[in-house]
Amino acid sequence: MSTLPTIRFSELDLNALSGVEGRLAVLVSPQGEMDAVARRANRLSRGALTRLVGSARFAKAKGGEVLSLAFPAGLAAEALDVVVLEKKASALDARRAGAALAKAAEGAAITLAAGSHRRAAELALGLALRSYDFLPHKTGEAAEKTLGAITLLLRDPAAVEVEAAPLLAAAEGAHLTRDLINEPANVLTTTAFADRLLELSALGVEVEVLEEADLEKLGMRMLLSVGQGSATPTKVVVMQWKGGETGAAPLALVGKGVVFDTGGISLKPGAGMEDMTMDMGGAGTVAGTMKALALRKAPANVVGLVGLVENMPSGEATRPGDVVTSMKGDTVEIINTDAEGRLVLGDVLWYAQERFAPAGVIDLATLTGAIIIGLGHENAGVFSNDDTLCGNFLKAAAAEGEGAWRMPMGPAYDRQLKSRIADMKNVGGRPAGSITAAQFLQRFVKEGTPWIHLDIAGVAHVKEDTAYAPAGATGWGVLALNRLVRDAFEAG
Ligand code: BES
Ligand code: MN
Ligand code: ZN
Repeated sequence: MSTLPTIRFSELDLNALSGVEGRLAVLVSPQGEMDAVARRANRLSRGALTRLVGSARFAKAKGGEVLSLAFPAGLAAEALDVVVLEKKASALDARRAGAALAKAAEGAAITLAAGSHRRAAELALGLALRSYDFLPHKTGEAAEKTLGAITLLLRDPAAVEVEAAPLLAAAEGAHLTRDLINEPANVLTTTAFADRLLELSALGVEVEVLEEADLEKLGMRMLLSVGQGSATPTKVVVMQWKGGETGAAPLALVGKGVVFDTGGISLKPGAGMEDMTMDMGGAGTVAGTMKALALRKAPANVVGLVGLVENMPSGEATRPGDVVTSMKGDTVEIINTDAEGRLVLGDVLWYAQERFAPAGVIDLATLTGAIIIGLGHENAGVFSNDDTLCGNFLKAAAAEGEGAWRMPMGPAYDRQLKSRIADMKNVGGRPAGSITAAQFLQRFVKEGTPWIHLDIAGVAHVKEDTAYAPAGATGWGVLALNRLVRDAFEAG
């Protein structure tokens, strides 16, 4: 399984620059100013950087871009990568520049001589995030490809390493999220998913798997109805990270883990159905966040709960028109078996509150196609009953460069869920499809529990490369949630 490449923080020795193998990268400001390292590389390469800075190519380059010179004379390196970056770059600019460098290197070993740049740790984070490839199902040459090591040459490597450690923990969490989301459904069955989560216990996370018999006893008929047509058993996995004060109410993260969504008896059209391997994106994001928190030993109590289930048609599958009873006790008329995510989350949300009395609940789900129509792939939909928690989350997401946009809610939308024969139906018609889905979830949130619902259908998995990830799973949300925990749920 892919994790982070090796990242080393080493003492800068200007006299050793000429011997660096692989790719050597230096920093030059958009105005063409060179730091001491770039000046030395310039001298060794007999003015290659001076000529680059004077070129039209450099004039067009923006901050955060990387310009590469192949086989520079006077250097052992196979390429001299010029990272265009302000001395006073923002954290996000530096992160983007690090990611651009990793992309340019295409997996080759990189030595970034960052000297004393104030954003060296963020450069490392960008490198780590973009050094990702999903290769477990390639054979032959592609399968042999391994990511080259990343070395940062620094004036004060020990201090940067300490600063970078929690950032790299978050990157490693995001990589786990991507690995889970990219994995096909015949490999990542509910059972395999639960097994992957059990591995987090090695990091100090308490992991517990609730099986179908347990879920029956708890009365989670709404959740179980989604999985009853599938051969892979429905499970709920509970992951507790107890880094905070003993007994302090935790933050609960709840994830939709539909390992494959055919739509069930309300079968989806065939075209593009293969993308529904990513319908466990919410659960994958919860898992990655728990890993990030554990790796950096976050001083907070956070519990992750995921509903793992497969939505398949069969002779035993739920029919449109069926009525099921939730753990809460409310009954639901299932109009459309493809609106299954809310059935999964409703029961897991209720269980999370009954068992943990959390200080706040955040659920994540690839819940609706409608959110993609509304917000595209740039922003997740944010729904909340609490302006403080929501404001904190939006701030964290903005600081991490993860798009998030708050959507409205209200009783008029809730009324769209009225059922003739049960307490509610599971769809609210075409208008405001993402909002009525959120209203459905809110019916399973207790009065007074601060709650956010994140509809990540548009951002969890994309068809094009992003700044930080190759096409496929993005890992969206791990950095924002990790920062939210740091800024709003940690003492001191
Ligand atoms: N998993 C889908 C939502 C989805 C769509 C995620 C596209 C990612 C990309 C969800 O279970 C679903 O099928 N939603 C339906 C709801 C409808 C039946 C009310 C939808 O969006 O069409
Ligand atoms: Mn569906
Ligand atoms: Zn779904």
